[in-house]
Amino acid sequence: MTLRDYLKIARRWALIVVLGCVLSGGAAYLLTARMDRVYQARAVILVNQRENQAAPSLQDIQGSQSLTRTYAELVTTSNNLERAAGILGNTSLKTLQKKVSAGAIPETQLIEVLAEDRNADRAALIANTVAGLFPGYVEEAQLAGSEARTALNTVFVAENALPPEDPIRPNVKVNVILGLILGLMVMVAAVALIEYFDDGVKEREDIERMAVPYLGSVLLADVPKGADKREWVPSILAAEPGDDLIESYRQVQASLAFGLMASDVRVLLVTSPGQGEGKSTTAANLAEALAESSRRVLLIDGDLRKPDAHRYFSLPNSSGLTSTFLVDPQALPAFVNHVGESLAVLTGGPVAPNPTELLSSRKMKATIDALAQLYDIVVIDCPPMLGLADASLWMPLVDGVLLVARQGKTRRSALEDTIAAVRAGRKPLLGVVLNGSDRKRHFRYGYGYAYGYARRSPQ
Ligand SMILES: Nc1ncnc2c1ncn2[C@@H]1O[C@H](COP(=O)(O)OP(=O)(O)OP(=O)(O)O)[C@@H](O)[C@H]1O
Ligand SMILES: [Mg+2]
Repeated sequence: MTLRDYLKIARRWALIVVLGCVLSGGAAYLLTARMDRVYQARAVILVNQRENQAAPSLQDIQGSQSLTRTYAELVTTSNNLERAAGILGNTSLKTLQKKVSAGAIPETQLIEVLAEDRNADRAALIANTVAGLFPGYVEEAQLAGSEARTALNTVFVAENALPPEDPIRPNVKVNVILGLILGLMVMVAAVALIEYFDDGVKEREDIERMAVPYLGSVLLADVPKGADKREWVPSILAAEPGDDLIESYRQVQASLAFGLMASDVRVLLVTSPGQGEGKSTTAANLAEALAESSRRVLLIDGDLRKPDAHRYFSLPNSSGLTSTFLVDPQALPAFVNHVGESLAVLTGGPVAPNPTELLSSRKMKATIDALAQLYDIVVIDCPPMLGLADASLWMPLVDGVLLVARQGKTRRSALEDTIAAVRAGRKPLLGVVLNGSDRKRHFRYGYGYAYGYARRSPQ
């Protein structure tokens, strides 16, 4: 994959990834908004060590700081907190131990007493009570071990706690940012997984990477309002002049015409890896587009199991290719329907019970050869290449092959296998048509303007 491929993937998924991030950021905000607010209040205690001389030495200062650390530990001892719990009331020692913490402020003789509570005023009250009781507690402890009151260290409250305005938890900003980052990571991982496992042929580059000619893309046609979805078929005969669908087939036909000229192919097999990828649609419309350039074109429905070509031209299918087995080559033209000045169609005819036998018979070869004499180009709509022997049996009867890949449906691996099968059949592969392309991808390459036709806005 090149940097361009990565950029393309990023562009394709950008909107969904952004949406995912916004959703997870929004969810983080809502969850945070529902969480209980916790406030933290802070009181400060100053520790003054008993002085032995007028000017304190470095050792005295270091001693004071170490004493401050010791006293900081004493703030949260159960003796001190138990007294605070008694004064505060309605709270146990255990709860206070969870709510109160104390620590020496580095390089100072200050102790910071922190108290947390869901109520800002109560947080301040707890901090002030614990800090306020501490000097008395220290004094008692010193008196118990010393007789001279003057030689005592002094401890007093340097700053009372005030009720805090903002909670310390939860932090809405941080949580929303974390939500956005998490959403981004999940979305990027999901996109990477989807792209890794998505083996569908999506665009021109997927085909070009297989080192086969790309003939162009055909638009995904919209089913007209009121039409029966099962019966309707995209046909350039039924489309209005200048329609994007016609333009896309003309573009493919123009590329194909070069291939036909260069390779001298006159009997062209249209197939695809799997079912429903648009073989019949492509064969019928390309036959029509080729006939527009005043070549005599014959479309043969070569799908002996599921004939379809008659539907595109509203023809009866009571007789067709399978019926020609019973007649002499001279009678063949009688089975052919003339649907335009230059276009003729040989429908599939009644479904045969033994298509593989028919296809490998000498009679079939003679029939195709005889018909090829009567037309400039013969297009054969064929069954899928993979899973059935029919397409391989058609191979010796034709001069060249055109493959159809359906955007998003045809697997890249299946297309590669089909290309390999065509190469094994030693017939020239004129190229691959990307069928059912979405408008965005289709028009990225400027199709629709190639011949100067106006592009209609989508219905
Ligand atoms: N470009 C297109 N835009 C819209 N619909 C399409 C297009 N190409 C094909 N279809 C629709 O897709 C369906 C399958 O198309 P089609 O019959 O041509 O495929 P197929 O490969 O010949 O199928 P099968 O393997 O059954 O012979 C049909 O309903 C057809 O109308
Ligand atoms: Mg078909």
